[in-house]
Amino acid sequence: MLKRLFDRNLRTGGGRRKGYEPMARAEFERLPGHVAIIMDGNGRWAKKKGLGVAQGHRRGTEALREIIRHTSDLGIGVLSIYAFSTENWSRSPEEVAALMQLVLDFFASEIDELEARNVRIRILGDKGGLPAAQREVLLQAEARTEGNTGLQLNIALNYGGRNELTRAAREIARDVAAGELSPEAITEQTVAAHLYTRGQPDVDLLIRTSGEMRLSNFLLWQCAYAEFLFPRTLWPDFDVRCYDEALSAYGSRERRFGGRLG
Ligand code: FPP
Repeated sequence: MLKRLFDRNLRTGGGRRKGYEPMARAEFERLPGHVAIIMDGNGRWAKKKGLGVAQGHRRGTEALREIIRHTSDLGIGVLSIYAFSTENWSRSPEEVAALMQLVLDFFASEIDELEARNVRIRILGDKGGLPAAQREVLLQAEARTEGNTGLQLNIALNYGGRNELTRAAREIARDVAAGELSPEAITEQTVAAHLYTRGQPDVDLLIRTSGEMRLSNFLLWQCAYAEFLFPRTLWPDFDVRCYDEALSAYGSRERRFGGRLG
């Protein structure tokens, strides 16, 4: 698959980013059903350019727009992106404010296109802990796209994996205390049904950019069997070509696994 990507880039102009033609679904032998992305490296990208961190996040949002479009074009079922963790509140008030503003800006500029693309939005995380304006916009986006049947876009905001599991445990305990569920009847499906991602498949491929190799409390349960990729590219530079490379690498990993079995 990587060879095919290489040959293809020779045809499309030697891989010059501007001339890069995104791969089509038929060019992949196997695509993941659920991709999760930790968009890391905005701060380092900004520092390298002599810009403030807010600029890095802004450019990161532009990169995100292209990745969502391509995921939707490829017909991948679910894309989960880590936009703001429960730990991110410890950043400076200026950076937190810049990220919260980006949430508003993102939905103001993207919601029409997302709707037109039949994308369904779900927020993973505690919306109640977000400022009222952001909460309102997120609730509206979820309600407006609820009936859509295309790409399921999960945006993790004020999200933490341990928090999600703790919340699930609390809900299940309530059902047990109310006599609606016996402890013996609790299965892995019961837990999965109390997560923000209920009804969705597990993560097949997790990508974390910038070379950092940590899960950072993202989708702990859902990543149990995920393939992990850690490209060194900083998130604002992670374009459709980088994404195609990652998706191709995922395909070849699966083929090697099949080979060992055979
Ligand atoms: C990590 O980079 C990135 C974040 C904490 C935020 C990511 C958010 C966006 C790209 C935009 C927000 C999304 C929406 C939907 C509006 P970092 O700052 O930790 O990078 P560094 O490790 O280089 O400092």
